[in-house]
Amino acid sequence: MIPHSFLQDLLNRVDVVEVVGRYVQLKKGGANFMGLCPFHNEKSPSFSVSPTKQFYHCFGCGAHGTAINFLMEHTGLTFPEAVNELAQGAGLTVPQEPRAGGEAREGGNWKPTTGLVDLMKTACDFYRQALRGAPQAIDYLKKRGLTGPIAARFGLGYAAGGWQNLEAAFDDYRSDALVEAGLVLVSEKTDEAGVARRYDRFRDRVMFPIRNVRGQVIGFGGRVLDGGEPKYLNSPETPLFSKGSELYGLFEARLAIREKGYVLVVEGYMDVVALAQLGFPNAVATLGTACTPVHVQKLMRQTDMVVFSFDGDKAGRRAARRALDACLPHAADNRTIKFLFLPAEHDPDSFVREFGTDAFADEVEQALPLSQFLLNEIVADKPLDQPEGRAKALFEAKPLLAALPPNAFRTQVVHMLADRLGLPFGEVAALCGIDGAIQRAVHDAPARAARRRVTGNEERALRNLIMYPRSAAAIGEEEQVALGYAGRRELFEEVLLHVRALGESADFRLLSEVLRNTANAPVYEEIFREILTYDENVRDLLLAPETEGSVERYQNQERMAGEELRAALAKLHYEALRERCERLSRQSKLTTEETTEYADLLRQTADLRRRLAPLASRE
Ligand code: UTP
Ligand code: MN
Repeated sequence: MIPHSFLQDLLNRVDVVEVVGRYVQLKKGGANFMGLCPFHNEKSPSFSVSPTKQFYHCFGCGAHGTAINFLMEHTGLTFPEAVNELAQGAGLTVPQEPRAGGEAREGGNWKPTTGLVDLMKTACDFYRQALRGAPQAIDYLKKRGLTGPIAARFGLGYAAGGWQNLEAAFDDYRSDALVEAGLVLVSEKTDEAGVARRYDRFRDRVMFPIRNVRGQVIGFGGRVLDGGEPKYLNSPETPLFSKGSELYGLFEARLAIREKGYVLVVEGYMDVVALAQLGFPNAVATLGTACTPVHVQKLMRQTDMVVFSFDGDKAGRRAARRALDACLPHAADNRTIKFLFLPAEHDPDSFVREFGTDAFADEVEQALPLSQFLLNEIVADKPLDQPEGRAKALFEAKPLLAALPPNAFRTQVVHMLADRLGLPFGEVAALCGIDGAIQRAVHDAPARAARRRVTGNEERALRNLIMYPRSAAAIGEEEQVALGYAGRRELFEEVLLHVRALGESADFRLLSEVLRNTANAPVYEEIFREILTYDENVRDLLLAPETEGSVERYQNQERMAGEELRAALAKLHYEALRERCERLSRQSKLTTEETTEYADLLRQTADLRRRLAPLASRE
């Protein structure tokens, strides 16, 4: 049984417009989105999806329901499958309620959040109310050039100075839910009664509520009024809020994004608010983090055109590069991705205030297309008139091109790169490993060997490789031979091809994006599903290996994955040779060749067995 409260939370987290939008082309019409009903034949759209009610309804045939119903109806999934599918997209593990008399199963990473949403709303209302009575905060916002209506549109508020102001907002200030929501912190100091003291996280700050696509407040950013540190304080990661997947202003901007036909991605809260006031209500911001593939995916569900805006300085360049990496897997032929670099001393807020709306619109107009930026990154600082420089450029290009989906756009980029380097197209394609015919990396001698059943051992090896792609470094010549015996040899080959193309940047996130664009995608999806639902800690590690405190653990896991990969392949090899041995030994007569082969096989298996012995104890 899936708990009812989980379904509630799941539906709070997913967006029916996004889910339906994956299958049906939707256009904004009034408060709702309209499209051609996928459940009956029609020429004019009578199928409507409501972002606020999170419901779809067809006026023609009467079909209606939630995101879960839609997936079931449209794709034929069963209820648990549809829930699973949506939960995965939302980064949740589906918990199971114990059956009567049955064993309870681990609840996964999910805890009921319905209560937290209410708390956040209460806090948001409280901060908004407090702003009305805080002239110094109002003055600050005015000084930043903001009007009352725009402050209201974004629900800006004020957290007063003092330590326990939220006591006035909540009946039970000592509730753990307030801590879980990230509103209240628990001190190490205790009071006279020996109880830990508590205090408000946000004090004397202008508050920017962060909303999810449904408009629910899930987090806050708070800015100091003076020069205090940190300048912005953000909500911590909570069951409601995750920086790596949320974008500030997306809820407020979603209609404008459809109207303008593109989304502007900036770096700061203030940029979003200022741009909204000065003619760009279609702006959103990452929350003090680099742009992630999850961000890009979220944006791509809203629009086919994304314009990133970065400062022209070094930090801006770095951020742009991260965004570029996050974008590559999403560079479909029907999409436009551009990069705008402002003068070093400006952010969008200061630029639009100093030079005006039209000047900023010009900047957007002249933004660098993805292909140009990508090419610049590839050739930057390399002497292309020398072989070394050209080789370096190709080296740089390889993982980037491999991350692109195999489409017309990628071909165009290869053409551009070939032109730039003065090399033939085919050569560049081949050297960058994006031509399927080359790099048959795996030894094909054992092709004649009987195809073996796919064993658990082999499955594990493939899963390990996909989880920790750089563990491929453990594959030496011998392992390569062993791979030739794998039942899923083509899959191994394909995965290895991409892993090698990605080079040092290979990790689960990038690799899975790349594999999603191959013909074997359904097979890989199944493997991803296994990986991501296996253990939440592992999942977190794979999706955010660079998180503080994770780096070392990741490296350890990677090393172990390499060892396991070698062991698994040795075992695979051993079993294949043994099978061949047995078959030969059952034959009544052996040719001279077969006799030699038999002797050879015996030697090899003995050898392998010796090396496998110490490994076997780890199983
Ligand atoms: P900036 O330092 O560029 O600030 O940070 P800003 O957006 O221009 O802000 P103003 O104009 O001075 O008010 C950009 C973003 O980085 C995150 C915030 O999301 C901010 O909007 N940030 C910055 C933090 O999370 N913490 C900080 O201390 C600073
Ligand atoms: Mn600024």
